[in-house]
Amino acid sequence: MNGGIEQLIKDKGVAAVVCNQWGDTGKGKIVDLLSSWANIIVRGTGGANAGHTITVHGKKHIFHLIPSGILYDQQGKTNIIGKGVVFDPQAFLDEYGLLQREGIAPKHLRIAYDAPLILPHHILFDRYNDASEKVGTTGRGIGLCYADVVSRTGLIVNDVLNPAAFEEKLHAYTHTKQFLFDSMRKETARNILHQPALLNGYYYDEKTIISIDQVIERYAAYAEAIRPFVTDTTALVQSALGKKHILLEGAQGLLLSIDYGTTKYQTSSDCSIEGLAKGSGLKESNVDLVLGITKAFYMTRVGNGPFPTELGGKKSEQYCAAGHTRDEEKQLHGNEIAALQADPDEFRQGIALRMLSDEYGATTGRTRRVGWLDLVALRYAQGINGKELVLTKTDILRNTPIKLCTAYEYTGPALSFKGETLSPGTILTTFPRHSEILYHCKPIYETFPGWAEDVSMIRMYEQLPRQFKDVVQFIENTTGGHVSIISVGPERDQNIFR
Ligand code: IMP
Repeated sequence: MNGGIEQLIKDKGVAAVVCNQWGDTGKGKIVDLLSSWANIIVRGTGGANAGHTITVHGKKHIFHLIPSGILYDQQGKTNIIGKGVVFDPQAFLDEYGLLQREGIAPKHLRIAYDAPLILPHHILFDRYNDASEKVGTTGRGIGLCYADVVSRTGLIVNDVLNPAAFEEKLHAYTHTKQFLFDSMRKETARNILHQPALLNGYYYDEKTIISIDQVIERYAAYAEAIRPFVTDTTALVQSALGKKHILLEGAQGLLLSIDYGTTKYQTSSDCSIEGLAKGSGLKESNVDLVLGITKAFYMTRVGNGPFPTELGGKKSEQYCAAGHTRDEEKQLHGNEIAALQADPDEFRQGIALRMLSDEYGATTGRTRRVGWLDLVALRYAQGINGKELVLTKTDILRNTPIKLCTAYEYTGPALSFKGETLSPGTILTTFPRHSEILYHCKPIYETFPGWAEDVSMIRMYEQLPRQFKDVVQFIENTTGGHVSIISVGPERDQNIFR
């Protein structure tokens, strides 16, 4: 194990890796670094909307549901899908099947008996709603499944294991959703049900839209496949406290959290440290070390929603929502990155940054929105996730000035906000997570000269360019955080510890 990480984790029992932004910050690499320390690795939030790359026998695969530590199963480590994760049996079996084909049969994988269960209904409703709501969801049924938890109508993993009870509950559940089926445009529903995520029409019924009989048949097959893994994971994790090293693996990011994220444009779990601890079966106070992963010195967002520092603003948001891809940008702009970088048009600068940083969806290759690092948002995220920061992707930007957002100027209509009047020109130094306000926040920047050196080979903080260290220092001073790790490349050893 790397000496630096050993020092950081010394004497700790529970560590957590969470993201301080809108996800896709490189949590996986840090989880991987800590996996050699951990005995138990737990996912506590989200579902198959997350994505992490796992290299199996030299081949890279994207996993969505199974924790990042799964390859350590062979060393006797336990990987857990905790009770806060919305569990999609099909997504699970796809990933499990992939491992089996690679000759890996995890023995210590566990699934919470009380995790909320994803049904085909959730995926259908999610995809149907998002066509008009335009949040830009992943279409995995996440929000609808969590909504059923809150409205006390949903099923749990354990229900699948009891076929007769499952059948009864499924009928009752479907009945509660009848008003939704009644209001659907049949043609649209039919098209969605014929998508691969819903098994190309397997569940489709002309009269009822979803065939309950088909769901029952399919979930009966799932029952036998998942039965060996299902247990009381909360009891398991709690009994390991003080005896084993436990690593909590976050999903998505704080600015997407249902409790703390940018309103409406959120995921539906609490992806803060609080939600992660709870969804893993613990209390936040059980966690000894929280590492807040923060992309630097730029940031990204997937899906719609406010992003004050986005290069190219609304134009970029619409462009990325239209589904442009890596291949397309490469073909169009492959030879002109330097020119794009120097272009006065921020939208074009954004294309250059995206290409330089390879910020495209892991599964889809779709463009991610890119912009400057927002310290107002980071200070807010730290208030919840804690002060220890891991800066990732810091090797991307060189030979370019670095801009850090330190405040916003409000440019929207006058309105009452938090008991005060917000008028055009008001300077905000705290993060308004309400999208209708954040959409009208113009970033105010501090600009730094940047550096020319390639930092990816550097392993000692002292050896970094002075201008780089000035930026790190400024981030710490402005946010009150402490940068513990600086990741300078994708490889395991490309880290600087402080
Ligand atoms: P949902 O989680 O599928 O409901 O999507 C809600 C919002 O969260 C959308 O804007 C998604 O793009 C975003 N989102 C969900 N999962 C991730 C992730 O793993 N990385 C980045 N964004 C995500």
